[in-house]
Amino acid sequence: MIQHNVRAFAPRQDEVLIRPARRADADGIVELVNGYASEGIMLPRTLDSVAHAIDDFVVAVTVRGKLLGCGALKEYSPSLAEVSSLAIERAAHGTGLGKRIVRKVEDLAAKRGIHELFALTLTPAFFESAGYSIADRAAYPEKIRRDCLRCPRRIRCDEVCVSRSLVAAERLEAAA
Ligand SMILES: CC(C)(COP(=O)(O)OP(=O)(O)OC[C@H]1O[C@@H](n2cnc3c(N)ncnc32)[C@H](O)[C@@H]1OP(=O)(O)O)[C@@H](O)C(=O)NCCC(=O)NCCS
Repeated sequence: MIQHNVRAFAPRQDEVLIRPARRADADGIVELVNGYASEGIMLPRTLDSVAHAIDDFVVAVTVRGKLLGCGALKEYSPSLAEVSSLAIERAAHGTGLGKRIVRKVEDLAAKRGIHELFALTLTPAFFESAGYSIADRAAYPEKIRRDCLRCPRRIRCDEVCVSRSLVAAERLEAAA
């Protein structure tokens, strides 16, 4: 049997646009996220919940309009939000889209005056390479109250909490 290398099908970086999501992207977002949810990698989303929160999503799309990735800003307070629903099409893994989406979610957070972001993830190394540090999830009781307490995996959760201060990041970038 011929083994194909999926990366051979990945588009070039400059052929992919990272932009705010539109209502028409909602079906593609749900399909992408729920594909990973069926493998237990992510939490599932309904079309309603995505459509309702579409202004909180950013997407990666090819110049031909194919959706390759998504990510969202989930607000917990005027200064705190989670990077959530982050997913990249398998064929485009490792091409930098995940990091570009995280940066766009951070831009959205900064525009809304949010200066601290966190995420719960099975891939902490990805977030660490994007400037996040391992954190104690107990520092985010709002998350525990809203999601963790009713999550079926709460007893044997293997997700790692990571966080990033956008204020500190801005200072570091300005000093560099
Ligand atoms: C995790 C995920 C979003 C990463 O997206 P991606 O586009 O493949 O990542 P990028 O190409 O932007 O990689 C950025 C960096 O993270 C690293 N990285 C990416 N995936 C990684 C992984 N699974 N484990 C360790 N490091 C990883 C890359 O090596 C790269 O490092 P560098 O900047 O030092 O070169 C993607 O693999 C994915 O969609 N996974 C399935 C869904 C999922 O797990 N979502 C939940 C995330 S909370």
